This record gives sequence, structure tokens and C-alpha cells, in this order.
Amino acid sequence: MTTETPLTDDPGAGNALADSTSDASLARSMARSAEIERQLETDPGQFRMLTGDRPTGHLHLGHYFGSLRNRVALQEKGVDTYVLIADYQVITDRDSVDSIQERVFSLLTDYLAIGLDPHRTTIFTHSQIPALNQLMLPFLSLVTDSELRRNPTVKAEQDATGGRPMSGLMLTYPVHQAADILFCKANVVPVGKDQLPHLEQTRVIARRFDERYGRAGDKSAPVFPAPDALLSEVPNLLGTDGTKMSKSRGNVIELRMSADETAKAIKKAVTDADRHITYDPATRPEVSNLVLLAALTSGRDPQAIAEEIGDGGSGTLKKLVTEAVNEHLAPIRARRAELAADPAELRRILAEGNARANAVAEATLAEVREAMQMVYA
Ligand code: TRP
Repeated sequence: MTTETPLTDDPGAGNALADSTSDASLARSMARSAEIERQLETDPGQFRMLTGDRPTGHLHLGHYFGSLRNRVALQEKGVDTYVLIADYQVITDRDSVDSIQERVFSLLTDYLAIGLDPHRTTIFTHSQIPALNQLMLPFLSLVTDSELRRNPTVKAEQDATGGRPMSGLMLTYPVHQAADILFCKANVVPVGKDQLPHLEQTRVIARRFDERYGRAGDKSAPVFPAPDALLSEVPNLLGTDGTKMSKSRGNVIELRMSADETAKAIKKAVTDADRHITYDPATRPEVSNLVLLAALTSGRDPQAIAEEIGDGGSGTLKKLVTEAVNEHLAPIRARRAELAADPAELRRILAEGNARANAVAEATLAEVREAMQMVYA
């Protein structure tokens, strides 16, 4: 018999969630992340990493330097890597699934073009993994509605919809995200700070699952590990107008753009009146961001680049940035074009990733049914 663990609105856990963006909690997450960063160097084999993206647009350089290249680095270290194309998460805050086909395959193409290797990284979509989605049912029994309503990231996303009524999926998607992470028992999740409340919710669900349904109280063998966030240092790359890089602001350089489109986007980038180029992000965000872009794409130091240009002005800077970006992206774009020309192969790769994810999800669901005494054959 399982012991009775009533689902009170556990103030400890509730606070942990609401506080997951507080200074103390953030400091804890960052310390743990730094520890994982060290362990990754010596013992990458102990980690299974899962992360994902909503297929809502084409990937750009902000994504690339912010997260994508780190995923490839983890794959290369030998970490068991899972990357989710979160198609069900698209319908949390919008009413239509327009262009979902194009967006899913564009994301897949970007992943492959930057170097995710489908033999080593399992790339899959929510909608094709029934057993993953089924985990949401027992998981929903482990959370309270007030806990869900306190989630600061959901609140912010809901506010951003400009008065759209909160859907049941919007309110509960962090629980679905827990299923994304726990179906494959991932123990490390590379994410931005905005995702920390969801990670905390996942940890709470993992712990409560074992308290309530766990293997007859055998604490030494929990069904689910508690995952940690990997908050890698990432450069603060802005858009071509010096504000946050985001598609809706029209300030992005997408991986799939042509060299000409890139040159045009950089040409209209915002600079300032001072001809002398310096790297000083605090006082000259627009110019410094262009210098940073050249530095990241050429693997050089931003100060050195700024000094080299000196009085050359923004024309010289933009020319250098355009060359560096296009040179860096050329092989990625060539590979991207090759992949995009073979949609049948893309479908095959995704089907293979989905088949692998399904096998893992079914094995986990079997354990869950067993723990919950719901095996009747
Ligand atoms: N919510 C994430 C985002 O918007 C995407 C995502 C879905 C995710 N499932 C995940 C990230 C699981 C990490 C783990 O970026």
C-alpha cells in the first residue's frame, strides 16, 4: 500500500516556486550549475540532458550564441542529449497552428545545420510521443491550482497576450514541461533564467511522485531524478537596433538568411554619431553590440576589434561585421540548404528521433504504472 500523502498546498514548495527567481534561489541554481559545468569536464557520461524550443519562428544568432552552440558542445562532450521540438507548447498562448509544418521542419533543419547529430542526439516532437503526454495525468494530481497560478513565467507570458483569457493548457504547461524532462529522466536542463520556475515545478513533481506513488516507499530508488538547470554564461547579444533580439522587433539575423539579406540587415543596424569605435556595452550599446557580433563570429576579442577599427567609423565596422557573420554562417547555411532540399530525409530523421523517444517514454510509463499499481495483465 502506498502511504497517504495528502496534497496540501505545501507552503514550502509553493514558496520555492514563487521564489525560484529570488536572489537566494538564483544564487543556489547558479552554484549548482557551476558544479555541473565542472563535472561535465570530468564525467560527462553521468548526464542526460534535455532541452527544447517552441517551433514559433526561425532560429537566429541570438538563439545560436545563447543556447544552440552549447547544445552541440554538450553532444560533443559525450552527454546523452535530447532536444524537443515543443509543438504542443505552441498552442499555450496562441489560437492557431498555422505554419506548424514549416516551423517544425525549419527548426529541425537549423538543428542539423548547426551540428546536432541525429545519431547522437534524439530530436523529437511532443505530438508524436503519446506516453510522454500521458505522464501529464498523474503529474497534474501532484500540483495545486494556486501553485500553478503563482508561476511567475506563466504570469508574464499570460500578461504578454494582451487580455487573452488564460487557457487550461497555458496554466498547466509547466506540468507538461515536467513530463518533457522526466519522461527521459534527464538530470540536466540547459535553460535561461526565465525557465527556472518550471525547473522548480519539475523537481517538486519528481519528489511528490515518489512520496505519493513511489516504489512502496523505497527512497533509495526514486522513479524520477530531480533535474538541475544548466545556466551557462552566454554573451548578451542584442538585435541590430541595440534592443533585445526578437523576431517581432525585426532586428534579428536568422541562420537561414542569405549573405545578401545579412548584409542588408547589418547595413541598417543602428549606430551612433561618434566615429571612433570602442567596445563599451554600458554606454554605447548599439556600436558595442556590433563589435560583439564580429567578435563572436570571428572568435576574437571585442576590445581588439574595436581598437583595430579605431577612427574607421561605423562603415568600416559594419563591413567587418558583415564579413565575419557571413563567413561564420557560410558552412551552416550550405549545410542548411542541402538539408532543406531533401524533405524526405528530414522526415526520416524526425521519425527516427520520435521512435527513439517513444521507446524511452514507454519504458518510463511502464515504471509509472507499476509504481501506481495500475498493471492489470
Ligand atoms: N518553454 C521552453 C521555452 O519557451 C521550451 C521547452 C519546452 C523546454 N519543453 C522544455 C525547455 C523542456 C526545457 C525543457 O524556451
